[in-house]
Amino acid sequence: MSEPSRMSNTVPTTRRTDDAPIRFGVIGAGFIARWFAQAVAREPGAQIVAVTSARRERAAAFATEHGIAHAYASLEEMFAAHGPGSQDPIDVIHVGSPNSLHAQHAIAALEAGFHVVVEKPFALTRSQAEAMVEAARAADRFLMEGWLSAFEPGVARLREHLPRLGRLHRVVLSKEQFSSRMEVYRSGGLPPAFDPALGGGSLMDLGIYPVSLAIHLFGEPDRVTATGTLLECGVDARGTVVLSYDCGEHAGLEVVCLHSKTSPGMESSFAGDHDVLSIDDCQWPRRIELRGPAANGDQAQGAQAHEDLSVERDAEAPGHQLAYELAEVCRLVRAGARQSDLHPLSRSVAAVGVLQEARRHVGVRFPADEQG
Ligand SMILES: NC(=O)c1ccc[n+]([C@@H]2O[C@H](COP(=O)([O-])OP(=O)(O)OC[C@H]3O[C@@H](n4cnc5c(N)ncnc54)[C@H](OP(=O)(O)O)[C@@H]3O)[C@@H](O)[C@H]2O)c1
Repeated sequence: MSEPSRMSNTVPTTRRTDDAPIRFGVIGAGFIARWFAQAVAREPGAQIVAVTSARRERAAAFATEHGIAHAYASLEEMFAAHGPGSQDPIDVIHVGSPNSLHAQHAIAALEAGFHVVVEKPFALTRSQAEAMVEAARAADRFLMEGWLSAFEPGVARLREHLPRLGRLHRVVLSKEQFSSRMEVYRSGGLPPAFDPALGGGSLMDLGIYPVSLAIHLFGEPDRVTATGTLLECGVDARGTVVLSYDCGEHAGLEVVCLHSKTSPGMESSFAGDHDVLSIDDCQWPRRIELRGPAANGDQAQGAQAHEDLSVERDAEAPGHQLAYELAEVCRLVRAGARQSDLHPLSRSVAAVGVLQEARRHVGVRFPADEQG
């Protein structure tokens, strides 16, 4: 992918000079839309103008719950009522629909003239992801994947301290948690997160976190191998993806990505020659610990040395989950940016490509795979 060089990062002609809130339209009224609405409620620089969902009554109930003025049963209705230049315009569309609709919804919003934030995973296939990037370039609009980790203080601390370990050899990243939707599946239901027609499964839902963190820190890997356990419905319940870096700065590094929707996980760790840096969670690291001679620069303590690099982060409180990501989106849109420097589109495309290759190894196929 070459789009970062083709897309200008800031376009001063659309820079916002007023300090009015950035106005959002929301697609989807489910779990992530609630997190988003709660974050907007705490962010003075943001406001939700309208919401649309598959069912009008769900959109209406969501609008009532979050004090949103307009609810629609289709994207077309929302786009027509709140297009650029209208009386009540939306600046940015937040796409929180099921994975299989991300590409379609994002491209429709970009073509209608809106900036767009798309929930993770960005798309189902690399060709969908590339089409989204091309649509943003053609429309000259902002586009970003809502992978919240990029904007987390714990990930900033990782970026700052990992170089202290010297050359890394082995990294194990884990995102594993028992899914409440697993209970629904086991009792005969097929929630979206397990539905192959909607792009469900553990890789797409949770595997994205370790894979994206690896790409964020080390770039796109040279090789991908994966194993996994399939459910009868055709998606994976858990698995392992190994990212191998053969050349360049990280030559020899292997990143083992563990993901599971059937059991709780373990901590993640980064290991160099003598030091290990461990984190409690690769979605939003809070407890961060360095062990080994690099800790506190204490060579005398050797492997016993220990340094606490933890960050204060009340990630589970309502409105806090997406707070850093939302603030950054508002800042970027206000500045006239077309993508995020911290989480550029090339990384989202790379993550989708890795997940697609991993799915091929594991045998998870989506209808979108038939389209190339
Ligand atoms: N960033 C994070 O940490 C995070 C966390 C969770 C989920 N996510 C992502 O967010 C996305 C949604 O997940 P979720 O858990 O929120 O799912 P969810 O609770 O099932 O909600 C999905 C919503 O999309 C709506 N929808 C379905 N088809 C639509 C259509 N054609 N047009 C408009 N709306 C449509 C549904 O409408 P109805 O309700 O009317 O049926 C529902 O409100 C997924 O991509 C997921 O990966 C991100």
